[in-house]
Amino acid sequence: MLKGEHITKDFGGLRVLGDVSFEVKEGLIFGLIGPNGAGKTTVFNIISGLLKPTSGRVTFDGRDITNRPPYEITGYGISRTFQNIRVFREMTLLENVLVGMHRLFSYSAFSMFFDLPKKRSEEKDLREKAFEILSIVRLTEKADLKAESLSYGEQRKLELARALATEPKLLLIDEPAAGMNPAETEELMEEIVHINGKGYTICLIEHDMKVVMGICSHIAVLNFGELIAEGSPDDIKANPEVIEAYLGKEELSA
Ligand SMILES: Nc1ncnc2c1ncn2[C@@H]1O[C@H](COP(=O)(O)OP(=O)(O)OP(=O)(O)O)[C@@H](O)[C@H]1O
Ligand SMILES: [Mg+2]
Repeated sequence: MLKGEHITKDFGGLRVLGDVSFEVKEGLIFGLIGPNGAGKTTVFNIISGLLKPTSGRVTFDGRDITNRPPYEITGYGISRTFQNIRVFREMTLLENVLVGMHRLFSYSAFSMFFDLPKKRSEEKDLREKAFEILSIVRLTEKADLKAESLSYGEQRKLELARALATEPKLLLIDEPAAGMNPAETEELMEEIVHINGKGYTICLIEHDMKVVMGICSHIAVLNFGELIAEGSPDDIKANPEVIEAYLGKEELSA
């Protein structure tokens, strides 16, 4: 579904990604892991069009999306969350999701003024859809609260809902469990599996090995901008280079 081919990224003189190739198969949860600064978020930035690769190619559903602008890539069906949460704190949860859905609005300025019944029914549809999305991350009860009233873990879930609002086929999730307590993390894992079960293909960056090993069917490991291993969770756990990159087995055996 998504292919990265020989991606290299330099920042000034610094090589941050070197000849990275990977393939995300439709329907799966693909994990991208690696130590701090390995280049994981840079991979997401390149896929989502926020950064241009120095060389290499990204294709999605057979279409070359390298260097396309972010809004176009969203339109093709790729959505993402950010490592640093980007929800609108002053808006309600429902409004946050509705803002994410803006590209789905179909009524024109004309119908806004002259076809109010149509507008009302579309607005109702959109609100229902927004509620449905909030229910995926179990936040419907808080739909009318401001985002700033949420716990950190809940804000991360709202960030996920916001990404789902553009109706993606592929969802890129950057460290969703960061700052979550163990109970929230457990719930998050269930939700990601649930989202995947609804037909979304997922590419997940995550530090928490318990999350990655627990829900990913395929894992790629980046270290200093190079792909050092790829395979099933069991392959990855047993890979000596991966163990060395993580300085010991503790983190991997979690
Ligand atoms: N816009 C930028 N300009 C210069 N250097 C950058 C830029 N973005 C990232 N880097 C550098 O690229 C390297 C990889 O960063 P990246 O954020 O992709 O790592 P990461 O694997 O996501 O790390 P973390 O686990 O800490 O989130 C780091 O050394 C970082 O400092
Ligand atoms: Mg990162």
